[in-house]
Amino acid sequence: MTQVNPPPRLLMGPGPVTADPRVLRAMSAQLVGQFDPWMTDTMNETMALYRQVFRTANRQTFLVDGTSRAGIEAALVSLLEPGDRVLVPVFGRFGHLLTEIAERCRAEVHTIEVPWGAVFDPEAIEDAVRRVRPKLVAVVQGDTSTTMCQPLADLGEICRRHDALLYCDATASLGGNEFEMDAWGLDVATAGLQKCLGGPSGSAPISISDRAVGVIDARKHVEAGLRVDDDVDRGERIASNYLDLAQLMDYWGPRRLNHHTEATTMLYGARECARLLVEEGVDAAVARHAGHGRAMLEGVRGLGLEVFGDVAHKMHNVVAVEIPAALGASGGDKVRAALLDDFGIEIGTSFGPLHGRVWRIGTMGHNARRDAVLLTLAALEQVLRGHGVPVTAGGGVGAAREVYAS
Ligand SMILES: Cc1ncc(COP(=O)(O)O)c(C=O)c1O
Repeated sequence: MTQVNPPPRLLMGPGPVTADPRVLRAMSAQLVGQFDPWMTDTMNETMALYRQVFRTANRQTFLVDGTSRAGIEAALVSLLEPGDRVLVPVFGRFGHLLTEIAERCRAEVHTIEVPWGAVFDPEAIEDAVRRVRPKLVAVVQGDTSTTMCQPLADLGEICRRHDALLYCDATASLGGNEFEMDAWGLDVATAGLQKCLGGPSGSAPISISDRAVGVIDARKHVEAGLRVDDDVDRGERIASNYLDLAQLMDYWGPRRLNHHTEATTMLYGARECARLLVEEGVDAAVARHAGHGRAMLEGVRGLGLEVFGDVAHKMHNVVAVEIPAALGASGGDKVRAALLDDFGIEIGTSFGPLHGRVWRIGTMGHNARRDAVLLTLAALEQVLRGHGVPVTAGGGVGAAREVYAS
């Protein structure tokens, strides 16, 4: 058996995307003991960087070890007690995921739905909040399954008016779309590295408002063997040990509770993702994603392809492209395979009601770049032509270059 030696790929799907080489370099640094002062300083620096990424003053801003869904589960299992009412506005696959995780927390889950390709009016969410009177509203910002980006700006105020907490899954959108933790009044938000942050999956940044900290700390049970005399069990015990945010806050805080062993290499990677974003400027990074996303959008249209969904509410970093009927039933997969085999470019398939209907093409993180966009469009044109689809010659690259020139 030889050493791992992956083929060169340009990952232009809905994530994961090709990691920024600077993040990979940071991840090759040597380990340091978990409570070494250098390590705890690095953890504190990482918290400070993610406050800037989430745009928050929340002290409790740190990393949950695991992929993005570890962050989601940590948030929901730590906030929800059996029987609590939750409202989930579902506009794609990841709304269903929030629903299923909340159900596993044995919450009473209520959903509202719009068809895939649409988002909710804030009034529709407020009507449902009024009806359900939830303890928590749990919503996805950018749902990669449909490419839609739910407007959040009014939801914090709505939730406060009705005394509900607001959780947001910003896995696919953070760093590439406007996101304002404090200004929008979010209580808990979680993310991942493998989308606009340009890293590998495996770490879930989280930020928690003081209001939510109060709810979580009211359920604090420090595990036996770590307890000291002051540690009195409070409230209903959180139903997960690994994802227990009450203990994790003490692990990341001055107490340095000896909970799990930090995934040091992921910490280095997560810190570098945030450092790069902050160095670029969060606004500049969002503008970069908007610009390259628009170039890709106009590029696929320039090839003569149709785009799925309400484009006015599309995330900057991914576009869903209708698979041309001329390709037939399995044609979508054949085109993806040819892009991978001949050009080393990966684009995404889709699931649920969109399976076999759209490809999802991402422009995010390290790949929100002009050369990546133009190369993908040029390759797509060749592959489509090879499969008998009548595309506009040079239409994709030409339209994208017009966007860049404007
Ligand atoms: C919006 C959203 N939420 C959650 C996830 C799950 O993330 P992970 O696969 O890192 O656990 C994804 C992954 O694509 C996502 O796009």
